[in-house]
Amino acid sequence: MSSIQILRLASKLGLTPEQEQDFVAAMQAGDRARSALVITPQAPEGYVPPLPADKTPRDWGHPSILALPAGETEARPGSLPDYERGYYYPLDLSSVWETAPLAHLPFRPERCLDLCAAPGGKSILAQTRVAPRVHISNEVHPKRLGILRHNLLRCGFMGLYTQRLRPDQWAELAPGSFDLILADAPCSGQSLLAKGIPNPGCFNPSVTGGNAKRQRGILLAAVRCLAPGGHLLYTTCTYAPEENERNILYLLKRCPDLRTVPVPELEPFRSALAREACYRLMPFHGAGAGGFTCLLRREGEPSPLPPLPDELLAWPIQAMNR
Ligand SMILES: C[S@@+](CC[C@H](N)C(=O)[O-])C[C@H]1O[C@@H](n2cnc3c(N)ncnc32)[C@H](O)[C@@H]1O
Repeated sequence: MSSIQILRLASKLGLTPEQEQDFVAAMQAGDRARSALVITPQAPEGYVPPLPADKTPRDWGHPSILALPAGETEARPGSLPDYERGYYYPLDLSSVWETAPLAHLPFRPERCLDLCAAPGGKSILAQTRVAPRVHISNEVHPKRLGILRHNLLRCGFMGLYTQRLRPDQWAELAPGSFDLILADAPCSGQSLLAKGIPNPGCFNPSVTGGNAKRQRGILLAAVRCLAPGGHLLYTTCTYAPEENERNILYLLKRCPDLRTVPVPELEPFRSALAREACYRLMPFHGAGAGGFTCLLRREGEPSPLPPLPDELLAWPIQAMNR
C-alpha cells in the first residue's frame, strides 16, 4: 500500500491538518479494529458474556450491544462455546455506529428489507434496535445467503425471512412496500486497511468508481421499494467520497421527495464534504476502523403498506431448519 495513495485520499476527506496526519498514521498502523457483541434472543435472561466489555454504552450505542475494549479483538469471541450457542453475535464496533440513526425512526417499522444482508450484522442490529415486525434479509450471493441464514438461526432470530433477489427485482416485485430499507452496500472497503487487513486496489479510481456505480443502482432500486414516510439507511465501510456523500447527493437530485435525517448524537462525526446530514466515522475517532452512514426519509404520510406477494416470504428462519 502506497503512502502517496493514503495521503491523496486524506486530502480529499475534508479533514483538518492534524486529522489528516492521524488518518495516515492509523492507516499505516493497521491497528484500529474494535469489536462489539450483540446479545441475541438466544441468550438466557440477564446473560453476561465471558469477555471484558465496556459497561456504559456510547450515546450512539444500545444496552444490548457491548463494545469490547481496544485490543480485545484478539480475544476471538467467535471461538468461544457461547458463540456456537448463539448467545451473542460479534461484529465491528463501526457497524454499531453506522446503525445509530435507527434510533431516530418515529415509529416501530412495520416491514423492513435489508437489501445487502450477509453475513447478517445489520439485520441483527436493526432487530435489536427497532425490531421491525416483518423483516426480510436479502442476499444475492448464494453462498453468503447460507451463512446469513445460519447466523440468524444460531442467534435465535426466528420469524425473519430471507431472500435472494437483485435490488432491481425487488423494485419490480415490491414497489413502495417497505417502511424501512437497509442498504449496507458492497464497497471498496478502504477501512480494512485501518484494521491491518490488506485490500489491494481499494484506492484505484476504477475500483471506487465501479463501486459507486453499483451503489447508485442499489440506492435507486431501494428508493422504488420505499413507502411514503419510510426510511432508507445507507451505509458503507469505505472512505471514498464518490461511494458516500457523492452518492447521497446524486440520489437527492434524482429523487426530490427524499430528505436526509439529522442525527444529533452523530454531530461530532458530521461530514465536512456535504451540507446534508452525512456522517463519517474515521479511524482516529476510537470506535473502530471507520464507516459512513446516512438516514434518508421519503416524504409523505405513512399509510397501510401494500400486500407482499407470498413467494417473497417463502424462506422464514425456523427452528426445524436446524
Ligand atoms: C457490506 S456487505 C453486507 C454486510 C452485511 N450488511 C452485514 O452487516 O453483515 C455487502 C453485501 O452485498 C452483496 N452484494 C454484492 N453485490 C450486490 C448487488 N449488486 N446488489 C445487492 N447486494 C450485493 C454482497 O454479496 C455482500 O454480502
